[in-house]
Amino acid sequence: MQHLMRQRANRHIRELLAQDGLKISKLIQPLFVVEGLIGEEKISGLKGNNRMGIDATLNQIEKDLSNEVRNFMLFNVPADKDMKANFGTNTIRTIKEKFGSDIHLWVDTCLCSSSHDGHCCIYYEEDKNKINLKATLNALSSFALSYANAGADGIAPSDMMDGRVAAIRNQLDKNGHIDIPIMSYSTKFASEFYGPFRAAANSKPSFGDRKQYQIDVRNRNDAINSSLRCSNEGADMLMLKPAMSSIDLVAPIHTQTNLPVGVYQVSGEYASLALLAREGLTNFDKALLETWQVFHRAGAQFIITYGARKALKLGLSK
Ligand code: PBG
Ligand code: ZN
Repeated sequence: MQHLMRQRANRHIRELLAQDGLKISKLIQPLFVVEGLIGEEKISGLKGNNRMGIDATLNQIEKDLSNEVRNFMLFNVPADKDMKANFGTNTIRTIKEKFGSDIHLWVDTCLCSSSHDGHCCIYYEEDKNKINLKATLNALSSFALSYANAGADGIAPSDMMDGRVAAIRNQLDKNGHIDIPIMSYSTKFASEFYGPFRAAANSKPSFGDRKQYQIDVRNRNDAINSSLRCSNEGADMLMLKPAMSSIDLVAPIHTQTNLPVGVYQVSGEYASLALLAREGLTNFDKALLETWQVFHRAGAQFIITYGARKALKLGLSK
């Protein structure tokens, strides 16, 4: 049975997915919240974005609301890497207690910020080349459930494991969260453009790379099949990243799945504009708006971007 009503559940998701012009309501602002941090710390390359403690986060959301931003993607950065399934739940609870239905809070769901080795999966102890899929899916679904229990409005799995959307959906449904949507990072390339993020989220792998689970940019079939897989597993919406590396795939994936498809303008893409501007080689604001217009032209129904909170100043309407 399909649950199309999840796409209509509240005004934020209705505006996010409306097949309409480029507006602030189609943008999602990431937040890096570091458990136990007092104040905030700069993130190299991501101007206008900081690693924040909870108080700084609440202040920032307040400001973002005054700039008409309603959609957020929360990255929980735990204080210690002990794989506790409840890390981040206090953050979610505190944010939702304060802002309630004024905001729509997506929570990135992965293991890499909390695992000792910085990988998005769990490897077998005896063979670090082999992914223990069952243990990985169990861990991801229990994270997702604890986020939903804490008040998350949507779950966004970013690990790229086969079967995780189905596993998470099953876990949510069994526990009374039939209304919580899953935005799957469905086509995620192994990319050199995640650098600033990995520093911010403390998620750099300590050995190897992510090529066993993220897609090789040369492979169009794999890129499309990964999104089809997530669609078949019950994802409510699909997301492709990096945005510029996926621009040719938005339309075919939309055509083949008929699901809402969005893009993530990742940290390295955003930072590259900031670095050009710093050298006086571009106008940051204009360049940023240009990239969003291109993503929208390509058919992206929503955009995750570190610049969402600037959109009002760039002239977008809510
Ligand atoms: C981790 C995750 C990554 C991003 C979002 N979730 C990085 C990675 O896979 O290494 C990248 C976001 C960005 O670069 O802005 N699962
Ligand atoms: Zn990860």
